[in-house]
Amino acid sequence: MSDLRDGDSGIFEAARSVDVVNARIAADANPRLREIMEIVTRHLHAAVAEVQLTTEEWMTGIKFLTDTGHMCTEWRQEFILLSDVLGVSMLVDAINHERPAGSTENTVLGPFYLPDAPRYANGADICLDGKGEPLLVSGRVVDGAGNAIAGATIDVWAANEDGFYDVQQKGIQPDFNLRGVFTTEADGSYWFRSVKPRHYPIPDDGPVGKMLAALGRHPNRAAHLHFIISAPGHDTVVTHIFTPDCPYLKEDAVFGVKSSLIADFQRIDAPQRADELGFTNPFWAVKWDVVLAPAA
Ligand code: BEZ
Ligand code: FE
Repeated sequence: MSDLRDGDSGIFEAARSVDVVNARIAADANPRLREIMEIVTRHLHAAVAEVQLTTEEWMTGIKFLTDTGHMCTEWRQEFILLSDVLGVSMLVDAINHERPAGSTENTVLGPFYLPDAPRYANGADICLDGKGEPLLVSGRVVDGAGNAIAGATIDVWAANEDGFYDVQQKGIQPDFNLRGVFTTEADGSYWFRSVKPRHYPIPDDGPVGKMLAALGRHPNRAAHLHFIISAPGHDTVVTHIFTPDCPYLKEDAVFGVKSSLIADFQRIDAPQRADELGFTNPFWAVKWDVVLAPAA
């Protein structure tokens, strides 16, 4: 029988807390789970010891995580939002989506994607509420050698002029406002009509919003248009394009901005072209080409 006063016993000692906890993991536990839990435990204990966490602070943390869980519904994932504002979502994305130089980069998916948006022919207008400054989006989808990818799927979604997605304003915005799925032509081209995106706050009426406020952080996302671009044999890209004139480009609440994703939005003053497009003059136009890497 082992002596409980023996330093190697399973009894907790603050000075060797990590070893005591990790020693409890069974020899036949899943090796990847073991690796993750050993490292998470090590960093967690180090953080608690470094800040000399008080009991009140520990309880505040427990309450915060409890409130975060209670905030989650079928429509609201407060834990992913927490991961987003801590930069963890972008870090996980970077680790999992290394691509050859020149390929279009990923950024966060966000909570407002719907997988069943309407399919449209190129040229369709996805703005169904008539608000905002008209925008023509066009470009080509190509591979790393510049060859056109015909039949690629371009799934787009955006917040409206008031800074909300359709799913946040059921009964106020038309369903599928600012959403659509397009297919590239034989030369890889696509084009559609929309409105210039504007910045908007992430949902900040829950614990994550309170945490941002306590940290003196604003909840705004830099103005963007979401895209998922996919084609057989190619790595699917989940990304955005950002407007270059947004005041929040350098302080996006979820760290989603990458310089390669800041697109060249041009203000066009061309009454006849505006007329052809059914736009008021002047209008905005952005050309954005997508480079897909081969599937991993
Ligand atoms: C979005 O861009 O839709 C988004 C991304 C992360 C958190 C909240 C919203
Ligand atoms: Fe968004």
